[in-house]
Amino acid sequence: MEEKREEFEEISPSDFFYRNRDLAGFTNPARSLYSAVREFVENSLDACELYEILPDIVIGLTEVETRSPSPNIYKLMVADNGPGVPQEVIPFAFGKVLYGSKFTLRQTRGMFGLGGTMAILYGQITTNKSAHVVSSTGTSKIYEFTLSIDILHNEPVVLKRRVANNDSGWHGTVIDIYLEGDYMKASSRIIEYLKQTAIVNPHADITFFDPYGRLFKFDRNVAGLASPPREVKPHPQGIDVEMFRRLVFFSEETNMLDFLVNNFQRVGRVVVNNFLKKAGIPPSKDPKTLNRHEIVTIVQKMRSFYGFRKPRADCLSSLGEDFIIAGIQREYNPEFVTVVMQPPSSYSGHPFIVEVAVAYGGNIPSRTGGLLYRFTNKIPLLYDEGSDVAWKVMRTLINWKNYKVNIEEDPIAVFVYLFSTKIPYKTVGKECVADRPEIEREMLSALRKACRRLRAYLSRKGKAERKRKKLEIFSKYLSQIARFSTSLAGKEREPDVTPLLRELEVG
Ligand SMILES: Nc1ncnc2c1ncn2[C@@H]1O[C@H](COP(=O)(O)OP(=O)(O)OP(=O)(O)O)[C@@H](O)[C@H]1O
Ligand SMILES: [Mg+2]
Repeated sequence: MEEKREEFEEISPSDFFYRNRDLAGFTNPARSLYSAVREFVENSLDACELYEILPDIVIGLTEVETRSPSPNIYKLMVADNGPGVPQEVIPFAFGKVLYGSKFTLRQTRGMFGLGGTMAILYGQITTNKSAHVVSSTGTSKIYEFTLSIDILHNEPVVLKRRVANNDSGWHGTVIDIYLEGDYMKASSRIIEYLKQTAIVNPHADITFFDPYGRLFKFDRNVAGLASPPREVKPHPQGIDVEMFRRLVFFSEETNMLDFLVNNFQRVGRVVVNNFLKKAGIPPSKDPKTLNRHEIVTIVQKMRSFYGFRKPRADCLSSLGEDFIIAGIQREYNPEFVTVVMQPPSSYSGHPFIVEVAVAYGGNIPSRTGGLLYRFTNKIPLLYDEGSDVAWKVMRTLINWKNYKVNIEEDPIAVFVYLFSTKIPYKTVGKECVADRPEIEREMLSALRKACRRLRAYLSRKGKAERKRKKLEIFSKYLSQIARFSTSLAGKEREPDVTPLLRELEVG
């Protein structure tokens, strides 16, 4: 028999995403266009937030080649007034997949070191054109790079580099790429995305020139900035063996007591002493002398030790009730809206906050199953709704009948906001959140609270409605009854029925 042998090979991260670009949201031409816009916009918002800059973001999309059949070729330009990217970093930040500055424990929109680079990679493989980046950190120079990605080796290829004087002290980043797309199909999503992004980021000024020559302007709505999310240390209950090993490797502490106190959040010396006693580890032990077995034991004990306080949530920047209500009212002017903010909670050591709003009536359209809006770390999620934990909660775990809602017909919208130092996205395309039990529990609990308030409103409204109908009937017939009874009784003067009606109105 002929011997069969498999070929083994290793591929680079960019090669992996070249082969599996759907994982990052670059599927069909319409969605890819949308993904490219959102990745660049989110990078700009993140960069500005970290440096406490009020973002001015300009997006330009032009059709440069019309093809029949589609897809067409577009030029996408995104410019921001952010902190800029240091020139030595530019080729890597934009020409190397899985290279980024957000692998920290901080609430950011980006996470993977992939989004913007993936848009560049997609542009490159669909048009064979290079990307163009202009950036300055506000120094005396502006740097301009023309680059592409060596996909096989995941390395940036700098094709051209120019330096210009920066007399005005400008800082920011301008990126342009060419890419295949389908704006006809993507336009409504892109505009909806920008609209919702502007609502949850009122400090941003966003301008969009679309390929049809239309201008969409989402003006800054607030003058100030919320305080930027802070970076935090890991929580002991969210640690795993690998993370612990790395902390030991980079640490300078020479005893376990100092090591734990300095490298983790929410632990003081008393708690650590208690923990070490329970775990049977001397506080004076040098962490660098821990063997594999000891590390595994410590990590296990850390997870099950109940003496640690919950992860801190003051590193998170949520939206808050007034703000959410204002946004919903401006958009939908509903007859009823309520917001529930859950207390901070945590999953796998990551703090998170859930806020849920329920709105009813007004300009909310009736949609089978109700409308669901999802936001994570101040970005709207528009695709893959059916795979999201919020969808599961709204569509399968809540029994709407209990709340007097006919979910198939009533004009109802649910808004779910999740904030965390790490959002458990199901894919690197960042479009749907996994159903981590803790997150699901908080969402369900918040939605139930909001629905109870809605039920109270609807039954008040139902009562008032029934009363109004009754009054209508009475006022129609009472005067006639008065007339008939007057003539039946042979009397001249009809009795006045208004006091009776007033009594009914009050009662
Ligand atoms: N407009 C910008 N201003 C400043 N820095 C930027 C900008 N765009 C990208 N960067 C830097 O480039 C890095 C890579 O961006 P990229 O979008 O590829 O990944 P990411 O944002 O870190 O994660 P994600 O894959 O979730 O988007 C970022 O981490 C950031 O440091
Ligand atoms: Mg990004």
